[in-house]
Amino acid sequence: MRAMNRQFGRAVVIGASSGIGEAIARQLAREGADVALVARRPTELARVADALAGKGRAYVHDVTCYDEVPVLFERVVGDLGGLDLIVYAAGIMPRVAEGEYDFAKDRAIMDVNVLGAMAWLDLAAAHFEAAGAGTIIAIGSIAGERGRRGNPAYCTSKAALATYMESLRNRCSRYGVNVVTVKPGFVDTPMTRGAPGLFWLISAEEAARRSLQLARRSSGGSTFVPRRWALVAFIVRTLPSAIFRKLNI
Ligand SMILES: NC(=O)c1ccc[n+]([C@@H]2O[C@H](COP(=O)([O-])OP(=O)(O)OC[C@H]3O[C@@H](n4cnc5c(N)ncnc54)[C@H](OP(=O)(O)O)[C@@H]3O)[C@@H](O)[C@H]2O)c1
Repeated sequence: MRAMNRQFGRAVVIGASSGIGEAIARQLAREGADVALVARRPTELARVADALAGKGRAYVHDVTCYDEVPVLFERVVGDLGGLDLIVYAAGIMPRVAEGEYDFAKDRAIMDVNVLGAMAWLDLAAAHFEAAGAGTIIAIGSIAGERGRRGNPAYCTSKAALATYMESLRNRCSRYGVNVVTVKPGFVDTPMTRGAPGLFWLISAEEAARRSLQLARRSSGGSTFVPRRWALVAFIVRTLPSAIFRKLNI
């Protein structure tokens, strides 16, 4: 079978003001795409838009303002003259101390990492389904493979995101929509800066390159980035709970 090579001429990246989202936006623009950049910080969005040299347009938005999303989605699609790709890269991972149980922090994680994704990607799925084409990428994480003691809400949010994406894929793929979950290991971004115990660290540019490559070639699926994290996922999933709970991760 001939390998696919989808073209993304018009894209929106949610969480485009830094890290993986910024790197994806930059790569898309380098390849000629017009990119809508969505995030909260206007100065960071302006910096990224400037770097995209006429190919990027900034939209200041907090993904937890769910009621704003339908109008903003239509505005973005109108400004771009259509849509080929949506990337949900917005996410937070506040540090959680030993013995800390903070509902406000947990809720913030779920609001951004899960509900914000649903607010945007439900609309995108309906739009692409009606068009009979389009690609949805969400940035999950290896952290969603198992409930680690280190950050319960973050692990939960990434597991929930992966399951939601799988459901979208199962709903939309029959209408020609390509739904891709990217699960990175450690990526060098502001989110991980200064965090202890990082290994196999890759750059945001590398994560972006692999994510887009996958989305171009796949017919939907879920993949670890880089691939060697699949082995870690397998081991982590296979370990009996009695052993896993003793690990300090
Ligand atoms: N770095 C890693 O090692 C790693 C590994 C696996 C998965 N991931 C995932 O990759 C995604 C990107 O993370 P990153 O590492 O690139 O982190 P990052 O550099 O901190 O970027 C996070 C992005 O999310 C946006 N964001 C956060 N809260 C938002 C809100 N309420 N409304 C709108 N935008 C919001 C931020 O923009 P504003 O602050 O301007 O709003 C920023 O653009 C996240 O989902 C993360 O969980 C990261």
